[in-house]
Amino acid sequence: MGRQAIVVALPRDEQVAVIRELTEAGFEALPVTTPQDLETILNGRREIGVAILDGESDFDRSLEFYSLLHDSDRDIPALMVVSPRALDRLAGAATKANIDDEFFTRPYSTDSLRWRIEAMLIRSVTIDDGSGPILQSSGDFESESWSKRATIVSIFNPKGGVGKTTTALNLAAALQVRLGLKVMLVDADTVTGHIATSLGLESVTTVVDAWTDDVEEGRAERSLIDIATQHANGLTVCVLTASPLNTEILVPEQVGDAIRAARRGFDFIIVDMHPSYSPLNQTIFERSDRILVPVTPDVPALRAAVQMRDVAQELGVRDKLALVVNRANSGVSVADMERTVGMPALALIRSGGLLFVRAANEGRSVVEQYPKEKVTEDFEILAQKLVGTEFQAAEKGAAAKPAFRIFNRSKEPARA
Ligand SMILES: Nc1ncnc2c1ncn2[C@@H]1O[C@H](COP(=O)(O)OP(=O)(O)OP(=O)(O)O)[C@@H](O)[C@H]1O
Ligand SMILES: [Mg+2]
Repeated sequence: MGRQAIVVALPRDEQVAVIRELTEAGFEALPVTTPQDLETILNGRREIGVAILDGESDFDRSLEFYSLLHDSDRDIPALMVVSPRALDRLAGAATKANIDDEFFTRPYSTDSLRWRIEAMLIRSVTIDDGSGPILQSSGDFESESWSKRATIVSIFNPKGGVGKTTTALNLAAALQVRLGLKVMLVDADTVTGHIATSLGLESVTTVVDAWTDDVEEGRAERSLIDIATQHANGLTVCVLTASPLNTEILVPEQVGDAIRAARRGFDFIIVDMHPSYSPLNQTIFERSDRILVPVTPDVPALRAAVQMRDVAQELGVRDKLALVVNRANSGVSVADMERTVGMPALALIRSGGLLFVRAANEGRSVVEQYPKEKVTEDFEILAQKLVGTEFQAAEKGAAAKPAFRIFNRSKEPARA
């Protein structure tokens, strides 16, 4: 079966470019100019996944489209393309909108628009886990992010120095900057965490700081979104603590709940972890949807990954695991590594030499600082794979929905 059809009702030049992009990605993109066009399509039997509407220049017409999409017996999510200014005006009306609708701000690349569509389709087949209502109150409406529900991906290997932080930071940047998704990056390495400094963020408020103040002043503990810092690249960065001492306030269950609660408003939450099996880490494993295990091609790192596989089995989280082979161009066979560890490799990251150090000196990820480097492409492929596997997992859990293909255009990195 083919992928769902996407209705596109945008100004002419934009319409052409967007339809080309969606068609290349394997969607059936249906251009619509008048409400009659849309009615004809809707009365046909084709299943429509999302409708892309212009929320700005001809707003009245878009409202007509919108009401057709949400007629009595249908509920087709809309992606409204607007300018940042128009978005501010629309924000007040957001609570009246359907929870599956979203906004997308101009200017944009057709590639990032297409990724937003992929993410909306994932969410439309994702079953609610019952962790709370999706809509935020209009008071804390935050730009275009009011109806999202993030996938939580933690990055862990019990061995130090294998590339957990490097992977967390650059994967988060690839999802945010290259795929146009909305990402929170959590530094949960309570001992040697250095995400804030690597991203050039000085004096961030940590969760320990914020919750300590809250308790002293008799308030409810703030949410991670309230505590987090915004990076210039769009990432939302949340650091648990700046010091390994006095972290008792980070009660594992409470931290796990706070990470889960932050799912509203993001597409992905990426969690960088300390290399230990602490109670906090065990809770994070349990709350994560996926656990990525970076592994370098050397015996100690592979042994550590095998240990993680066995521990994960005992903790009941083995299904969430996937390897990320780091420094993959060192001559060791990836198939051998997969066999040794007994886990599939989701993606390969080649060695980036000193690029990581140079990028950190500028307070940026390699993905942003060196967009044309091969290692950046590797992180982009990892990001795409993650969006793709989330999609397949959601699809399995929603048997009534049609199956569709994803990543028919994704490129594989050169295998060692
Ligand atoms: N693919 C790569 N190419 C070049 N350098 C890399 C690569 N991956 C990681 N590094 C470098 O290796 C060092 C260790 O990486 P990183 O800090 O990400 O590991 P970690 O698993 O988070 O370590 P820890 O367990 O101490 O938190 C860093 O200096 C990083 O820049
Ligand atoms: Mg680290």
